[in-house]
Amino acid sequence: MTRTNISMKETFGLNTQIEEISKINSLSDLPKITSLLLPDGYELLPNTSELFELEFAFYECKFLTKDEVVQRGAFFKRVDGMPTHHYIICSNNSPLIWQGRSETTKSYFKEGNFSTGYATHGLFPYRGKFHPQLIKGLLNILGISTEDIVLDPMCGSGTLNVEASILGINSIGIEKSPFCVLMSKVKYEALKVDGALLSSILNNMHKNYKTLISSKKLHADFSCHDGFKPEKAITLLAFLDAMGYARRCSKSIDMLFPSVLKRYTVQINSFIQARDKLDLKIGNARFEIGDARNLSLEDNSIDAIITSPPYSFAIDYAENDRPQLEYLGYNVSKLKDEMIGLKGKTRKEKLANYFDDMDKVLSEMSRVLKIGKYAVIIIGSNDIQTGGIRLETKVEETAVKHSFVLDQKMVKPIKGIQNTMKDEYILFLRKVK
Ligand SMILES: C[S@@+](CC[C@H](N)C(=O)[O-])C[C@H]1O[C@@H](n2cnc3c(N)ncnc32)[C@H](O)[C@@H]1O
Repeated sequence: MTRTNISMKETFGLNTQIEEISKINSLSDLPKITSLLLPDGYELLPNTSELFELEFAFYECKFLTKDEVVQRGAFFKRVDGMPTHHYIICSNNSPLIWQGRSETTKSYFKEGNFSTGYATHGLFPYRGKFHPQLIKGLLNILGISTEDIVLDPMCGSGTLNVEASILGINSIGIEKSPFCVLMSKVKYEALKVDGALLSSILNNMHKNYKTLISSKKLHADFSCHDGFKPEKAITLLAFLDAMGYARRCSKSIDMLFPSVLKRYTVQINSFIQARDKLDLKIGNARFEIGDARNLSLEDNSIDAIITSPPYSFAIDYAENDRPQLEYLGYNVSKLKDEMIGLKGKTRKEKLANYFDDMDKVLSEMSRVLKIGKYAVIIIGSNDIQTGGIRLETKVEETAVKHSFVLDQKMVKPIKGIQNTMKDEYILFLRKVK
């Protein structure tokens, strides 16, 4: 990546223009705001309506050349009339993806077409996952190139890894929940499959379903212990997705599985068509079941970290995924003991454990990151469930103890879990020694 000759710190110093924008209460005058912020020739994606999106678009313009915005920009439709790769990838989404779903779901997917519902991100609806478009924007703001290696030590459904791979960047994903590791691997491996494999998935659907539904223990063939088998793993994830869906809508897995699996193949097919048209080189991603408090990585080996700690006061990840974890043969109670934010009986005890664990995570992040590089933490704030303590402030204070300085802090409204979390903070922490 050839970064335009402006440093990230300098760009963050250009905040005056952004501040002017934030004084405008309504974004209805978007053309005026856009002309104030962006040079001629840059056309934003449809549905751009949030202040943070404009902020990101502004930074992408500052950091990337025009060609780079076309190849890796996350917030633009066209530059000088040339459609961006992001626009092409998202526009290739087949309407079949939301066929048979409720009107609310359809409109959610359609609205999220450019931000959440593209590539393989929609394969399993993991609660509390990153906003993929934002992650692409962050990789751009941080100036990450294909020579770099990025890490998410609590990777959940692997959103960072999928986004990095689409841009040809190598990445590592570490996660405590074995189900999340499976999900991340599938979302990543599905970026690399071909059309023949998708046909085979559909041809073998009934046979594979019989095996999955009949065995009490996960059938060895699907377990991925002896190497990852994309056909089996994609089918297994669709099966586990149907299992969760069945629990939520009181229908049988039997009824739901075929349509979930078909949707998976359509979604993957939409991406691989765009991939081949644009000749994208997919970056490598490596996943591990591990602990963010004790990373199995070398000191000073990572070029950027983008992560989001558990919103454990809003979401109990282990409980949410109990049916899938139990089906895969894992002990949920044992897992809960090792998951950040879930330990403790009272709220006070839980909070104390949470901050103690976050101290360890930040210490490990600082150890593995190269000096001068960034760890970006995305954290929801909610001072009702924390008894008035602001999580982002506490994380900032802890980060400073571990050789980080806070260069920038952005705010983004949360759409999905508004009843428990209102805003998310994006903290740009630079390791200084
Ligand atoms: C907010 S979610 C991350 C979501 C992720 N960014 C995504 O896009 O899907 C936080 C994750 O931290 C994981 N986690 C909890 N305790 C952990 C630990 N000790 N080590 C690693 N991961 C952990 C949870 O399982 C959960 O998936």
